Amino acid sequence: MPVEFNPCATAARRTLLLGAGALGIAVVAGCGDDDSPAPGAAGGSGGASSAPAPAPTTGNPFDDTAGASGGGGAQVPSNALVATGEVPVGGGIIVKDTVLVIQPAKGTFKAYDAACPHEGAIVDPPYDGNQIIQCPRHNSKFKVADGSWVSGPAPRGLKGIKVEVKSGYVVRS
Ligand code: FES
Repeated sequence: MPVEFNPCATAARRTLLLGAGALGIAVVAGCGDDDSPAPGAAGGSGGASSAPAPAPTTGNPFDDTAGASGGGGAQVPSNALVATGEVPVGGGIIVKDTVLVIQPAKGTFKAYDAACPHEGAIVDPPYDGNQIIQCPRHNSKFKVADGSWVSGPAPRGLKGIKVEVKSGYVVRS
């Protein structure tokens, strides 16, 4: 006999036991992530996924998809590229898919246009103190120190971007 069941009829998690004693199969239909009532659960209709929520973002100021937050958080400089703590010492990070920010030594930051001068592929950030920035497409290599060309088909080095540290962020200067 079919039974209609709407697991999202209430905000609380519901557990439906089928054949509880004999089979011990539990079907969990969750409208929230835990046993506590979901705040503002009225807006939860249409949430088809019961998968865990994705990890919160790191507050990357390049996340243009976040939309206006209305403030209230930490004050991020308007020209911020990335929080200093997100750039590994001896390595780098690509921000906004266009800028390579590196920290060759603790507290020293540099930035380059991440587009390879050959055909525009985004270069790989250096890591583990490696002094070479490499393009993954045709293997051009550039110096971490100044972005200059070392080898490969790229006709020139990486274009430098002037940066400084302000309020805990690497910002365009
Ligand atoms: S695109 Fe970088 S080496 Fe060709």
